[in-house]
Amino acid sequence: DKGNHRHFMLKEIYEQPVVVAQTLGSYLRPLEGRVSLPVPEFDLAGIRRVTIVACGTSYYAGMVAKYWIERFARVPVEIDVASEFRYRAPVLEEGGLALFVSQSGETADTLAALRHAREGGQKIAVVVNVPTSTMAREADLLLPTHAGPEIGVASTKAFTCQLAVLAAFAVNLARDKGRLSAEEERRIVRHLAEAPAAINAALAYDDAIEAMAGSIAQARDVLYLGRGPDYPLALEGALKLKEISYIHAEGYAAGEMKHGPIALIDEHVPVIVLAPSGPLFEKTISNMHEVQARGGKVVLISDYDGIAEAGDDCLATITMPKVHPLIAPIVYAIPVQLLAYHVAVVKGTDVDQPRNLAKSVTVE
Ligand code: M6R
Repeated sequence: DKGNHRHFMLKEIYEQPVVVAQTLGSYLRPLEGRVSLPVPEFDLAGIRRVTIVACGTSYYAGMVAKYWIERFARVPVEIDVASEFRYRAPVLEEGGLALFVSQSGETADTLAALRHAREGGQKIAVVVNVPTSTMAREADLLLPTHAGPEIGVASTKAFTCQLAVLAAFAVNLARDKGRLSAEEERRIVRHLAEAPAAINAALAYDDAIEAMAGSIAQARDVLYLGRGPDYPLALEGALKLKEISYIHAEGYAAGEMKHGPIALIDEHVPVIVLAPSGPLFEKTISNMHEVQARGGKVVLISDYDGIAEAGDDCLATITMPKVHPLIAPIVYAIPVQLLAYHVAVVKGTDVDQPRNLAKSVTVE
């Protein structure tokens, strides 16, 4: 049932404050200022390396997790798409944890990669939305997302819930490895607990995003730029737009622009820049200026301070609530989803059932 919404995708976008709160609720203990995961049968503190494997949007959630795990737990993380991982003779050593991320828990390549990692002696952790799925059954450490059934082929609420779980996982691993003080953990838990309200505040920009969708819908190509943990969001934004509006889009690490893609820039290529205030803001903005100097039309997604500082010469700006850089990827997912949604509606495509795509890809 779509409720009052025109499409399942929009309904699922709007469910995010609630389902992210539900998901965080099962991993955070806000009163104690602690994260608590289900206790695995193996010793998490003994993990020396994490290998993340997934496909599509779930892979981008995994990319964000790599930043978090390395930053907080100081454990090296490797990440690969499932269809590559299996066929490249990955080196799987003792003390390795393989972490699989999947909404459905049935994606053929991810499942095959899981079995490959198990044969290679890895402990298996699974972040999955369907609790009865095959991957859920085969996990040593099951980390469910509580997004509820996701009907739209374009993944939205599953993604933000995956991020919520992965953030909790990173913090828990960091604590177990003795890399996080109780005070730091308390601070992080407080920031994570702010995510649902920040998502809600981000949803308030729906009308503003809808209003600019018409101009993006005319484009043949769109670029998305981000840095650090917001770089995967650029990739996710481009995937979402491609999937449902059929407009060609690419996501790039903002600093990679001048190594090639900047050649594409002219006044016909909108560039969506994801730049929350924080340690990487100035660097991203200087890449944005390189785009503008070549006539590129920029849509800047930032917070009030960021837009006050850098929003002047943009085609449009989208103001996000000011959030801690840790939760920015969760909050900045919202405008990226809404933009793809409204552009697809302008183009009149079948938003919930885009051509050539299936909700669950159970063939290799
Ligand atoms: O069920 P999974 O999370 O394993 O699915 C992975 C991808 O097929 C999926 O994320 C796909 O990229 C979505 N259609 C993206 O919106």
